[in-house]
Amino acid sequence: MITIKTKDEIVKMRSACAMAARVLNAMVEYADVGVSTYDLDCFGRDLMMELGAQSACFHYPGRKSPYPAHSCISINDEVVHGIPSKNVFLKDGDIVSIDVSVFYNGYAGDNTKTVRIGNVSKEVERFVRVAEEALDLGIAQATAGNRIGDISHAIEVHAQKNRCGILRDFVGHGIGKNLHEDPQIPNFGPPHTGPILKPGMTLAIEPMLTFGNEKVFIADDGWTVKTVDGKLAVHCEHTILVTEILPEVLTLEKK
Ligand code: MF3
Ligand code: CO
Repeated sequence: MITIKTKDEIVKMRSACAMAARVLNAMVEYADVGVSTYDLDCFGRDLMMELGAQSACFHYPGRKSPYPAHSCISINDEVVHGIPSKNVFLKDGDIVSIDVSVFYNGYAGDNTKTVRIGNVSKEVERFVRVAEEALDLGIAQATAGNRIGDISHAIEVHAQKNRCGILRDFVGHGIGKNLHEDPQIPNFGPPHTGPILKPGMTLAIEPMLTFGNEKVFIADDGWTVKTVDGKLAVHCEHTILVTEILPEVLTLEKK
């Protein structure tokens, strides 16, 4: 069942998502050469605590064990759900996706950015941009009367045009009181199919693209999703609100 948020719930979703964006953007600023992914996660955890927000991924149930950290940090060939580590330090040329989901005011906000550390090659820079463009194109389809498949298809077309692989087993999602709600939002699929979008739906749209082959596996830690061919992957995500007119991107920081 896809929930339609009331006016009051939308106000709360806005504040939860603004909070998720604030924490993510602060972590993006903090990410730099020499910082361990553990320190980066602790920085985010402390900021959430200070602002009265809770991590939505901390202790999220998993196949082997609950998720152990407060954000997901995935470097280079890690696509999603990378676990921060005291032994992993960001280095020049890395691309790092930082995925921050929080609960605040009883609602969830979810967003992800892929950060370039130091100098990345032109080719890698372009690859990251393709994923960001795919996200924007997907969001542009999230208008009342369109269907979920229109979002999926827009992302797929842009990824394929740029010869990127698309993760099949991980998808975007509805979001509200819970981090993951109906509907699922795949990053591929035929247009004009799936549930019809209505004002008041809130959706987390999140392209996960690979630079090569799209085969992935889950590492021994039970969480980290990595590319089989060892090539780079990008992840970016916004939470949006479907309205009568253009979609409202909720995960933009309120200055
Ligand atoms: N933004 C991630 C998602 O929607 C958050 C995952 S929480 C985790 O999948 F615990 F599953 F990592
Ligand atoms: Co998400």
